[in-house]
Amino acid sequence: MGFWKSLFTGTDGSASRAGAGSLEVLDSRFVEFLPYQGENGSRLYFSTDRNIDLYELEELCDAVGWSRRPLRKVRKAIQHSFLVVSLWEQKGNRRRLIGFSRATSDHAFNATIWDVVVNPSFQGKGLGKSLMKYMIKKLRGEDISNITLFADPHVVEFYQGLGFMVDPEGIKGMFWYPD
Ligand SMILES: CC(C)(COP(=O)(O)OP(=O)(O)OC[C@H]1O[C@@H](n2cnc3c(N)ncnc32)[C@H](O)[C@@H]1OP(=O)(O)O)[C@@H](O)C(=O)NCCC(=O)NCCS
Repeated sequence: MGFWKSLFTGTDGSASRAGAGSLEVLDSRFVEFLPYQGENGSRLYFSTDRNIDLYELEELCDAVGWSRRPLRKVRKAIQHSFLVVSLWEQKGNRRRLIGFSRATSDHAFNATIWDVVVNPSFQGKGLGKSLMKYMIKKLRGEDISNITLFADPHVVEFYQGLGFMVDPEGIKGMFWYPD
């Protein structure tokens, strides 16, 4: 994730932590359960509610070794994203953030997926794939046909397995950075 590591470094911001970990009444408009039942009775679900505890998201990103980003900017990025999908483990009346992704969009033709992450304890179980498929389903549901992303070198094959192509028809992603 070196690319956005460098994009999102800077000073920290503040964020409220009300309700962290506790399961509030789930709003069915935002929630889709996965066909998964853990040994301890846990369940997993996707949520498109963008009201996410930023400290919990920071912990998730810490767990995969991403550099910290200013929380005020993370909050702004989430607020201005077209689609935000979080993945939760629910145990009794507690829940834990175990996956995240978001997409920006022009709301008509194009969307770009960012910040795809699954907690290391839950990796290798097909959840990253499910998260991406859910993102694509939601974007297609909004009639977005051109879905792009920036893959770190070590995850190119992960995205190829989902149908993403590197440089289709020779098209190159190009970047401009401040000096
Ligand atoms: C990349 C990531 C989201 C994958 O999540 P995951 O839950 O482990 O992936 P899945 O278990 O759903 O794997 C789906 C398929 O992709 C493959 N895959 C997973 N990670 C891969 C990788 N890094 N490289 C190549 N293939 C990979 C799996 O073997 C599996 O293949 P299969 O369908 O043939 O069995 C997760 O490893 C992660 O959060 N990594 C750290 C953050 C990161 O690098 N994000 C991407 C930024 S661009």
